[in-house]
Amino acid sequence: MTLKEAIVARHSVRQYQEKAIEAEIIKRLNEEIALCNQEGGLHIQLVLDEPHAFTGGMVKYGNFKGVRNYLAMVAPKGADEKVGYYGERLVLLAQTLGLNSCWVGMLVGKQPDRYTIADGEKLHCVIALGYGANQGVQHPLRPMEKFIKASIPLPDWFRRGMEAAILAPTAVHQQKFELELLDDHTLAARARFSLVGWAKLDLGIVKYNFEVAAGKENFSWQ
Ligand SMILES: Cc1cc2nc3c(=O)[nH]c(=O)nc-3n(C[C@H](O)[C@H](O)[C@H](O)COP(=O)(O)O)c2cc1C
Repeated sequence: MTLKEAIVARHSVRQYQEKAIEAEIIKRLNEEIALCNQEGGLHIQLVLDEPHAFTGGMVKYGNFKGVRNYLAMVAPKGADEKVGYYGERLVLLAQTLGLNSCWVGMLVGKQPDRYTIADGEKLHCVIALGYGANQGVQHPLRPMEKFIKASIPLPDWFRRGMEAAILAPTAVHQQKFELELLDDHTLAARARFSLVGWAKLDLGIVKYNFEVAAGKENFSWQ
């Protein structure tokens, strides 16, 4: 499965099989986590075989079952967009490796002995990972025009990027983002006002999906 196929196949999965993640896949995930942390200045950690976070009242929203593995999205305070961008890179890689996932922001309890948080950092959210009991369902699709500002004709790469952007996971499916085409090769990405928050983190997720489908070589962010 390619990353583009993973964008289409990925849906939030909240129920998981008991099966442990294979060693080869753990190795590949940890390699990619190290790259993301290095590039983004983040401190993402893979937590394995830890069922308590999702059974001890940690999750306020969503009917989760059988979650034993997750990414602890630890990063500097204020790094929300990067957390979204690099988290989605890991989510899509996981999908290509046969895993399912779900971003989880509504945390009420934490398991701080299972990951490290350095000074100036915080646990932004977690991402459940594992072999799903199902593949999830496609979220309702809104027309891409709702998220676009442009006064010039839309190039093909931009349309491809937008098709992937509207498939991106966002908190409570809020999709509070806007992409503005400034000229043939330059884009501005903005988070719209959100009552529930998370819009900056969501924007990072959307930008990663967009880049994968549009091709990074075709444009640059303003
Ligand atoms: C930052 C963020 C936080 C989220 N928090 C939760 C959560 O606490 N509980 C939950 O069940 N789903 C959570 N989700 C999943 C969203 O509800 C889901 O991505 C959205 O409804 C779109 O559905 P999809 O992921 O299947 O495309 C979160 C997603 C994001 C991006």
